[in-house]
Amino acid sequence: TKSIQIALDGPAAAGKSTIAKIVAEKLGYVYIDTGAMYRAITLKAIREGINLKDGEEAGRLLTDTRIDLQPSEDGQLVFLDGKDVTEDIRSQNVTNSVSQMASHESVRKQMVKLQQILASGRGVVMDGRDIGTQVLPNAELKVFMSATVEERASRRYEENKKRGIDTPLDDLQKEIAARDKMDSEREVSPLRQAQDALYLDTTKLTIDEAASEILKLAEERL
Ligand code: C5P
Repeated sequence: TKSIQIALDGPAAAGKSTIAKIVAEKLGYVYIDTGAMYRAITLKAIREGINLKDGEEAGRLLTDTRIDLQPSEDGQLVFLDGKDVTEDIRSQNVTNSVSQMASHESVRKQMVKLQQILASGRGVVMDGRDIGTQVLPNAELKVFMSATVEERASRRYEENKKRGIDTPLDDLQKEIAARDKMDSEREVSPLRQAQDALYLDTTKLTIDEAASEILKLAEERL
């Protein structure tokens, strides 16, 4: 059997990474979380006190930065200039600033190039916002996953609770909606369903159901 490329796009907290991990594991493919890469450069910009609105400065910062992804037991480790930042990139601070950082063409151009190199010549499941439209336009399988914003917020709420984080549901819903709005309205490769992507509404699906659905679609293409 051949190896295929699977592009998984959709709005924030739609369950993309959870599903992508399961699908990658079942197929023996690598899982690449592109959101983590935007989060890593955002973390560095915050630490260095860079003006996140300045695209030129943001692009320059990325040119001088190393971002590495390493597969691990429960997904993927993220390294920023050689240091493990897997946990740090999930902070509220980073979450609230990442869409601003990801809006710059100077940043996206470099990220897309790096992501294409990471994916080349192997079976991959890549999740993000522009994978089907920009990063892997020839992916054999493209899925655009979504769910209502209420459902996504409540999933994130339960996930946070397990990790001992207590953010009010209402705040989560506002944060998710704000991020979706910015990601969909930016000028450079906004969040869009690719023309040849299949739409999967996961509002009423369990994780296992959504993963099986995508695995079935993948197997049809092997
Ligand atoms: O997937 P995650 O929610 O971690 O992504 C964080 C942010 O990174 C998104 O809200 C978006 O602004 C940006 N992003 C992007 N393109 C991607 C992946 C993520 O612009 N391919």
